Amino acid sequence: MEVKQDYANAPKTYEGCVTQEYSKEIVKLGKVLLKVFSINLGLQEDHLQRAFGDDDIGACLRVNFFPKCPQPDLTLGLSSHSDPGGMTFLLPDEHVSGLQVRKADEWITVKPARHAIIVNIGDQIQVLTNGIYKSVEHRVIVNPDKERVSLAYFFNPKSDVLIKPVAELVTLAKPALYQPMTFDEYRLFIRTKGPQGKLQVESLISPR
Ligand code: OGA
Ligand code: NI
Repeated sequence: MEVKQDYANAPKTYEGCVTQEYSKEIVKLGKVLLKVFSINLGLQEDHLQRAFGDDDIGACLRVNFFPKCPQPDLTLGLSSHSDPGGMTFLLPDEHVSGLQVRKADEWITVKPARHAIIVNIGDQIQVLTNGIYKSVEHRVIVNPDKERVSLAYFFNPKSDVLIKPVAELVTLAKPALYQPMTFDEYRLFIRTKGPQGKLQVESLISPR
C-alpha cells in the first residue's frame, strides 16, 4: 500500500492518512455485511450490529509478512486456524497466492483477484448465529521464490459485550450451542492454546 501522507507534517491524529481512510471504508463494509447477514437470518437489520456493541466495535489491522522459503513443503506461513473475531477483511498480494481454506478434507488455494478483498467469517459470528454461519478454517502456505505481504483487518465485537447465540436463532430443535462469553474472555482462552484449526470454537459447544 502506498502511503501518501508525510507523517512528519501530519496532524497528531493522522487524520487523512491512508491507513485511517482504509479503516473507515472497511468498517463501513463490515457494517453493511452485518446488515446483510441479519436480513438473511430473518432478524432486524441492525440486530448483529447491536450484538457487536453498536458503534463501539473493535478493529485491528495486522500486516503479515511471509518470507520466501526454499522448502515450502516443510513449513507453513500460518498454521490452520479460524479467526477468533467477527470477520476478517484480507487484502492479499495479488501476485502471490498463499491463503488456503479448508473444504471438507481438502485445502483449496484462494486465487487473489485484483482489487478484491477476501472476507473470512470468524468465530464470534459462528457463536452469534448459533452455528448457522460457520467460521472458515484456513492456513497460509509459503512460496519458494516470492515473499508475500497481506493486510488482515480484524472487525470484532466490542471486547466486553457478552456474545451468545441470538435468541431468535435458538429453538427447541436447535438449542443454544455456545455459552455466553465476552470476546476478551475468548481471546484469553484461545491464546493459551495457539492455532488449532477449528478446535477452539468447537470446544465451546455446550455439553448436553
Ligand atoms: C490471519 C490470516 C491470511 C493471509 O492473519 O489471520 O489468516 O493470507 N492471514 O495472510
Ligand atoms: Ni486468519
